[in-house]
Amino acid sequence: MQRHEQLRLLELLAHGIANNLSADAGGITRAPVSDYTCPDLLRREQAVFFRQTPLLLGLSQDLPEPGSYVATSETGSPILMTRDDAGRFRAFLNVCRHRGTQVVADGRGRRDRFTCPFHAWTYRNSGALIAINREARFGCIDKENHGLVELPAQERHGMLWVRPQPGDGFDVGELLGGLGAEMDSWKLAIHPFAEEQTIEADINWKLALDTFGENYHFDVLHKETLAAEILGNLQTSDAFGLNYRMCFMSKRAYNYMQEHKLSLDSVPFRRVTLSVYFIYPNVILLMDPAGVDLLRMVPHPTDPARSTTHHRFYADPEMVEAVKKHRAEHGDGHAPESRFVGFNRIVVDEDYAMGASTQKCALSGAQTHYTFGRNEPALRHYHNAHRRGLGLPELDLAAG
Ligand code: FES
Ligand SMILES: [Fe+2]
Repeated sequence: MQRHEQLRLLELLAHGIANNLSADAGGITRAPVSDYTCPDLLRREQAVFFRQTPLLLGLSQDLPEPGSYVATSETGSPILMTRDDAGRFRAFLNVCRHRGTQVVADGRGRRDRFTCPFHAWTYRNSGALIAINREARFGCIDKENHGLVELPAQERHGMLWVRPQPGDGFDVGELLGGLGAEMDSWKLAIHPFAEEQTIEADINWKLALDTFGENYHFDVLHKETLAAEILGNLQTSDAFGLNYRMCFMSKRAYNYMQEHKLSLDSVPFRRVTLSVYFIYPNVILLMDPAGVDLLRMVPHPTDPARSTTHHRFYADPEMVEAVKKHRAEHGDGHAPESRFVGFNRIVVDEDYAMGASTQKCALSGAQTHYTFGRNEPALRHYHNAHRRGLGLPELDLAAG
């Protein structure tokens, strides 16, 4: 993010603190409860968002060197992502051209060839079919036309993008709606992968996104946890095409700055804020002092009331160096606690538990609409972005 943009956001946040203000959606939005429960809508979402739309499936350091691979079925299609021998990012349908078995088990590692577990056909990380077991007995086929089916894939700004079905390429700059340079400024490409987890929840996948769509709830739901770290009911609000960014202020850092009379431009932006990006259609990126969380929310294949959150954490390289130095100097031999311990105390035990309550009530048919406040502009943005993607009318804004 450009320094002048950082300063603009910090000033907005400081102004909000001084005047008890936050970003304003301009009115109240009513959103249909059926968006979270309708099986027909789910089928359309699956077809449009998780088949046709290019998705952000990882960051560059998921594939740190030639020969690295990641296999994932998170979109509903088995996908194999590789960095080939020339260092190029590639993606394939992870489906054997013989009898259609998944070639590589979901996971990550380093391998430049993959042998199918059923009859041992072997593919290179370029997708080429290089060996057919007992070829003379099998019969003669044209190996050149039986490589793994390649998917449109691009590596830009330290991000790995894949369209889950074969077809035309795509323009990442267009998808990011002007966020490309800002993503470069976060240096995503050099954030090392640290750990990953999968969270199954009894909530619609958009309810999982909504969890990261406002901080109006921080002082209530998270009063014993996150409220000590981040100022609640205070955010910036900026849209970038279908994507969105909001920034929150660190409570501790702000109090420290006040105490020591530090000016806004004297502190590194990342150390005093939490930046939350919605990357259309299903990703939340969290940038905080420790690193980057990449959360991909995906629906259950048939049940609108269930979803999976695929979560990876990539450490800030500067923090990694600082921790290494500290350890070398102080001889601290303890393994650091997983980031997910504290994260899950907030997101799983508090946010997703509240989401499960919301989902249960949605299924009860108790009401037809929810109300998004003026202080919840991201929710309005997320839902309208999805509606645009599906060709549905956008939600009305009512005075309030
Ligand atoms: S299905 Fe893969 S080798 Fe037969
Ligand atoms: Fe929360």
